[in-house]
Amino acid sequence: MKKVKVIATAAAYPEQVVTNDDLAKIVDTSDEWISQRTGIKERRISSGENTSVFVIETARKLLERAEVSAEEIDLIIVASVTPDYGTPSLACMVQKALGTKNAVCFDIVAACSGFMFALSTADKFIKAGKYRNAIVIGGETLSKIVDWSDRSTCVLFGDGAGGAYIEETDEGGLLRENIGTEGECYEILTEGYTRCANAFNDIESYQDPRWYVFMNGREVFKFATKKVIQSIRQVLDEEGLQAEDIRYFIPHQANARIVEVIAKKLNVPFDRFEMNMERFGNTSSASIPIALNELNEKGLLERGDKIMLSGFGGDMTWATVLIEW
Ligand code: COA
Repeated sequence: MKKVKVIATAAAYPEQVVTNDDLAKIVDTSDEWISQRTGIKERRISSGENTSVFVIETARKLLERAEVSAEEIDLIIVASVTPDYGTPSLACMVQKALGTKNAVCFDIVAACSGFMFALSTADKFIKAGKYRNAIVIGGETLSKIVDWSDRSTCVLFGDGAGGAYIEETDEGGLLRENIGTEGECYEILTEGYTRCANAFNDIESYQDPRWYVFMNGREVFKFATKKVIQSIRQVLDEEGLQAEDIRYFIPHQANARIVEVIAKKLNVPFDRFEMNMERFGNTSSASIPIALNELNEKGLLERGDKIMLSGFGGDMTWATVLIEW
């Protein structure tokens, strides 16, 4: 069977840095509370750029780094819960911006696991022989759907995009995955609800508080630690590997305490988990590809390294993908 390899990674995010002290000026919080409970110190927040700006910039860098032309791209999948529009998709906005005229382009939604679901989807298209390559991106401007008066959520999130260019190969690549959903729990974490109001029923109440992020933090914490641990164990078992065979674990960058629990339960030294939430906060579908790109840009990845990407998020979803670099 064909294999699928990550050839290039890239990321793009806003220039504006918002620190915990900046947040303490608008809600009743402190650097101490946010740092201790989450590990987050600062995040990038859009100064007005919408999600497509970061997604297109990421795609542009991927073409450059992979040294492929726009016309050569077969497939573009973008994962986002904060696209610019309902339609067009972000993927089609990339197509227009970069002239990837031969690509099939669409978006998917799987909350913070979105990049992983998109990667898995692209992997299957390529393995089925339908396409030779794909651009896969997770991108968000969560700042536009956060309630900036709610200290329990607004301190957690950030904006940005990250992605990978993947193509068919003979060896290595995406080795194994475990992805899943538990839709019956979706009310634990919601955002972006649009009320079904129209000119003939209730135009006055078009705005709805469920537009903003709502989260039961403790339930998310329990879900994340349980599912990510199960999912990583399953991938290791199925691949006949031990945790020590993995060079880097790249978890979803939601909360350092969640990562601590996962590392402890898996009996893996904490420092083998790549973490950047201190500087980016939780960027949802962008968090894992931004972290992967940072490792790659630092030159820390060597061909043959085994890297475990593992995320969780709303809907409720989880996703683990084992890559041989
Ligand atoms: N600053 C100061 N105090 C805050 C605060 C903030 N930003 N946010 C909440 N608090 C307060 C609460 O009001 C509460 O006060 P009370 O005891 O007087 O009622 C207290 O801190 C404890 O709140 P609680 O929600 O129980 O804290 P917690 O230890 O569960 O931490 C989270 C909250 C959100 C950090 C934690 O639950 C978490 O990280 N969950 C997972 C979230 C996640 O990963 N989401 C992403 C999904 S992809």
